[in-house]
Amino acid sequence: MTRVSIIGTGAVGRALEAGLQGKGGYEVRSASHDEREVRDAAAWGDVIILAVPLAAVDDVLKTIGDGGRGKVVVDVTNDFGETPPTSRAEELQAKAPAARVVKAFNTVFAKHMASGKVKGEAVSLFVAGDDASAKKQVMDLGRSIGFLPVDAGPLKNSRFLESLGMLNIKLGFGPSKYGEDIGFRLVGA
Ligand SMILES: NC(=O)c1ccc[n+]([C@@H]2O[C@H](COP(=O)([O-])OP(=O)(O)OC[C@H]3O[C@@H](n4cnc5c(N)ncnc54)[C@H](OP(=O)(O)O)[C@@H]3O)[C@@H](O)[C@H]2O)c1
Repeated sequence: MTRVSIIGTGAVGRALEAGLQGKGGYEVRSASHDEREVRDAAAWGDVIILAVPLAAVDDVLKTIGDGGRGKVVVDVTNDFGETPPTSRAEELQAKAPAARVVKAFNTVFAKHMASGKVKGEAVSLFVAGDDASAKKQVMDLGRSIGFLPVDAGPLKNSRFLESLGMLNIKLGFGPSKYGEDIGFRLVGA
C-alpha cells in the first residue's frame, strides 16, 4: 500500500488526508511546522504532498532534505503572485479601443463549437470581458448553441483562459493524447 505524507495541515492538507484515508484507504501521515515531524513524515512516505503555500515550499524542501530522494512529490500550489503580464485579448483591446473585446471559445475544440457538447454532454463556455452587455451577448450566443456559459470575469482574466486553451490543446495532442473529444465543464456554479 502506498504511503502518503502530507506536509501542511490547512484546508488542502486536511481535505486530502480525509479523502485519502477515508475513501482512498491509504495510510497517511501529516506534518506541518515541526521540522522533525516533517522530516520523519517525508522519509516515511512513498508520495509526499506539499500542501503548503508557495512561499513555504523552499523551506519545506530544505527540511525534507534527502527524505525526498526518488519520491513522488506532488505540488498543489497555486501562484497568486505571477499573473501573466497581459493577454492576447487585452492586446487586441488596446489596438481596438473603440471595440468591446470579449474572450471566448478558445478553450473548446472547433468540432464541438456547433453543438457546445462533447459526447452529448454540454461543456462550459468561459467568457471574459470588461463590458457587461458585450459579455452577456456572447454568453447568450453560446447558450443558444448548447454551451453552458460561464462569466469568467474581466478581460484581464483572458490571461488564464489563454492558458486553459493551451492546456486543452496539450491534453488533446500532447503526451496524454486524449484527442479532441474532451472539454471543460465548471460544476457547482
Ligand atoms: N484552498 C484551496 O482551495 C486550494 C486549492 C488548490 C490548491 N491550493 C494550494 O494548496 C496549498 C495549501 O493551501 P491551503 O488552502 O491548504 O492553505 P492553508 O489552509 O493556509 O494551509 C497551509 C498549511 O501549510 C502550513 N505551512 C505554512 N508554512 C509552512 C512551512 N514553512 N512549513 C510547514 N508547513 C507550513 C500551514 O501551517 P500554519 O497554518 O500553522 O502556518 C498550514 O498547515 C497552497 O499552495 C494553495 O495555493 C489551495
